[in-house]
Amino acid sequence: MSKLSRRSFLKLTGRAFAILGLGAIAGPVIAYFYPSELEEFPSEPVSIGPVEGLPLWKAKTVPFGRYPAMVINTPEGLKAYSAVCTHFACVPNWDEELQQIVCPCHDGYFEPINGEVISGPPPAPLYTLTVEVIDGEIFVGGA
Ligand code: FES
Repeated sequence: MSKLSRRSFLKLTGRAFAILGLGAIAGPVIAYFYPSELEEFPSEPVSIGPVEGLPLWKAKTVPFGRYPAMVINTPEGLKAYSAVCTHFACVPNWDEELQQIVCPCHDGYFEPINGEVISGPPPAPLYTLTVEVIDGEIFVGGA
């Protein structure tokens, strides 16, 4: 049985750390260029409650299949988005004072009317979901 020399051990350890370091760097770079894909939405519309429960410039984040959804009551009507940031998939929040959707992870800001990026690193707008009011109840999504 051969003994591992100190030099060989240090080489192996160095290579292991180099591989780990490359993985730690490559993961975020790949995620930046290939933003998260959103595939698993419910096929049926999801009720988020009565329309009077969502006054103007208020928002509600609700479970929506595998991902959360955000519904905002704007002067241009109800708007709904997948509440998953297109940068690194953090869950953005509604900032009522700014009247913008804000991702806390890397200061990404989104427009509430169309989900477009205002500033920050997100490479794409928020994914827009359908929203409608049926008999006074708000429904999001659906195929
Ligand atoms: S994950 Fe939202 S800005 Fe980075």
